[in-house]
Parts: sequence; structure tokens; C-alpha cells
Amino acid sequence: MERNDRGNFGSKLGVILASAGSAVGLGNIWRFPFETGNHGGAAFILIYLGCVLLMGIPILVAEFMIGRRSRANTARAYQKLAPGTQWRWVGRLCVLTGFLILSYYSVVAGWTLEFIVQAGTNSFAGKSPAEFIDLFNNFVSNPWRPLIWLIVFLLATHFVIVRGVEKGIEQSAKIMMPALFILLLVLVGCAVSLPGAGAGLKFLLEPDFSKVNASVLLGAMAQAFFSLSLGMGCLCTYASYFRKDTDLPKTAFNVAWIDTAVAVLAGFIIFPAAFSVGIQPDAGPSLIFITLPNVFQQAFGSLPWLSVILSVMFYVLLALAALTSTISLHEVVTAYLHEEFNMTRKKAAWLVTTGCIVIGIFCSLSLGVGKDYTLFGMTLFDLFDYVTAKIMLPVGGFFISIFAGWYIDRKIAWEEISNNGTLHPLIYKVLIFVLKFIAPVCIAFILINELGLL
Ligand code: TRP
Repeated sequence: MERNDRGNFGSKLGVILASAGSAVGLGNIWRFPFETGNHGGAAFILIYLGCVLLMGIPILVAEFMIGRRSRANTARAYQKLAPGTQWRWVGRLCVLTGFLILSYYSVVAGWTLEFIVQAGTNSFAGKSPAEFIDLFNNFVSNPWRPLIWLIVFLLATHFVIVRGVEKGIEQSAKIMMPALFILLLVLVGCAVSLPGAGAGLKFLLEPDFSKVNASVLLGAMAQAFFSLSLGMGCLCTYASYFRKDTDLPKTAFNVAWIDTAVAVLAGFIIFPAAFSVGIQPDAGPSLIFITLPNVFQQAFGSLPWLSVILSVMFYVLLALAALTSTISLHEVVTAYLHEEFNMTRKKAAWLVTTGCIVIGIFCSLSLGVGKDYTLFGMTLFDLFDYVTAKIMLPVGGFFISIFAGWYIDRKIAWEEISNNGTLHPLIYKVLIFVLKFIAPVCIAFILINELGLL
């Protein structure tokens, strides 16, 4: 059923900040560093930057175009633009991907709340690196604490969604994004001045291409999709709330550089810090929860009040960055249920929240009491991350670029992308060329390679 109570974002700045709010999150500060660490450092970062330019920005534009043109949730968008075709399955795949990502993403988002409490009660004081490792491991394998935080986080997301997105997202993003940026810069300063930080900088700046293999390529591409919120209709749904005069390529470019800057800054905090205290860069998902408390403790140990203030601020901002991302994931599924199944927004939101809590609980337990239950050699948590980020998002991105490059009527594409004819035709041509050929070929090549089909 068609609904016309859909809102709009209020201002251009609001559009950029809300989209950047979706993009900037745990993906940048938690996932980017540990993936960089797992895949050997600088070479991974360069390939990542290539993926952002070659696939990220064009697919961002494609999602914006599909969303704004259709003014509908992701699943309906394809039905509207390609009525009676199988394209509707792409929209549905997107919704499913969003639901699965939200479930495990909220687990990590919940961890940030625990760390706000730990930082606020000054429990980082006087701890050694080994003790920080224990602190994290004990917390994550505790059978109930992470679950409580998971539920709290999902409920927080739920209430923003129920109150209607526009005001909530737009306003909070306007305050939070600049604050996060400033705090990151302060922390970069602290981290690079730690003793022994040089090895971390080397790791970030000196590429060793001999380590590049199929899994590094896939990791970089998956990270680009994940970090830019691409491949599952998240920004497509947001774009359905954009106004007619929003400049799509410019917004895409802004979102991409803000997102990339935050990720690279996070790298410049984590690696100098990790090397400085001898923590392995490939420690995995625990990396930032071990290295960062250490930075606060080491850099400000002699000024405990400053250490408490900065560390609390950091985790609060991290939680808020995660919140603007979970909101955008939740919105995709809620808008779908609300508009397609004729239920109230509130009921749709409750279904999503409850479903995610149930799945999230299993993901969380799989890191503690359920460690020994593995599938394809992975815990449920790792499996969710692998399947969603490394398979479902690239597959979604592949179809989105084919849809935008080949299927959509050229006239519609030009109308949406050209911003009333002000875009240089060459830029338009390049974008379409990339969507038609380069992005799908690269995605297919990398996926096929990793899955061992070649
Ligand atoms: N991009 C967000 C981050 O970096 C997470 C996120 C929000 C996301 N929406 C998404 C990831 C859609 C993939 C797809 O933390």
C-alpha cells in the first residue's frame, strides 16, 4: 500500500550528516583497524582506498538515485522502478542483509556501553596490557552482561526509530559528528607520541604488496561496503527522504571522504597504540577494546581526571556513532515492514527489535559460553560478519550497479544524478561507465576468487 506520510530531511547539511552518521560507526573505529591488522597494514589500506573510489562512490550515487526516484523502502523501490520483474528479490535481499547486520552489530555496540561504565568508574587506572586483555575477555564471555547491553542498545535504537527519524537523526548527527572528529584528532596526537609508536606508523604507511592475496582483496572490498553502508539499501532508504534539490554526487562524495577520514584517523590511533604496548595488530574484534583503554591509561595516567573525562567522552561518542548506524539499519527493515505489510510503524519497529535481540543474543553467547559451537570453523558471530559483509553486501552491490548502469532508463538516471543539469556530463558518463562495467566486474572477480570458484 502506498503511504504519503513519508518525511523529508530538513537541510542539506542534515542530509550529509545523517548519511555520514549512517556510514561512520563501528565499521570505521572497530572493524577497519582489526581488518587492517588482519590483512597486513598499509597495502590493505591502499586497496581499500581504491575500492572506495572505484566502487564505493559510484554505488553510493546509484543507491541515492534509486531511493530518491522511488521514494519508497528498498524492496518497494525495485518494484516501482522495475515493475513485474525479478528485481524485487534484490530489494528483499537488501532488507534481509540489514536485519542480519543489525543483529550482530548491536552486540558490539553494546560493548561500547560497558566501556563507558568501565571508563567512568576509573577501572582502567593502573592496569597492564595483559590486564586489559583479561578485562575484555572476561566481559565478553560473561553470560549475561553483554546481553543486557545488547538489549539496552537495541531499545535505544528502537525509540529513536519510533519517534520518527528525521528530527532525531538530523539533530544528533549535527552535534555528534564534529565532536567525534575533534576527539579523534586529540587521540591521534596522544597515540603517536607514545613510546614505540613508530612501528605502528610504519605498519600503516609502508605497504608490503607481497602479502596481497584473494582474501586481502575481498577484505578490503567488504570493508568498503560495510563502512560506507553500501550494498543493502541503507542509503537508498535515506535517499527516499531526500528532497528534489539534493545534489546526489556531491553528497556521495562528502559521505565517502568523511567516512574514510574517520577510518584512517582511527588507524592512526590504534596501531601506534597497539605497537607501543606490544599488542598484536591482528588481535581481531577485541583490538580497540584493549588498545584504547591502554592509550588513555598510558597517556594520561598522571592526570587521572583527564583520563576519565577523555575516555568516557570517547566511548560515549563511539556509542553515538554506532547508534546513528544502527538507526539506519533498523530504518531499512522497519520501513519495509511498515510500508509493505500495512502495519503501524511502531509494530514494525517492535518486530525488528525483538527479532534482532533474539539473534543478537545467540551471536553474543557464541563468543563466550558457546565458543565451542562452530560452523565452517567460525563462531556464529564471525559467521554473521563473514556472510553479511563478505558475501551479501558485495552481491547486493553487484546487482545495484547492474540495475543502475544497465536497467534504469538513461533519462531517469540523468535527471536524478545531474542535479538539474548542473553536473558536468563527463562526470556523469564516468559514473555510468563505472556502474556498467568496472564495479560489477571487480566485485564478481573478487568474489569468485575468494570463494575458490576459479
Ligand atoms: N557503515 C556503518 C559503520 O561503519 C555500519 C552500517 C550502517 C552498515 N548501515 C549499514 C553496514 C549498511 C553495511 C550496510 O559502522
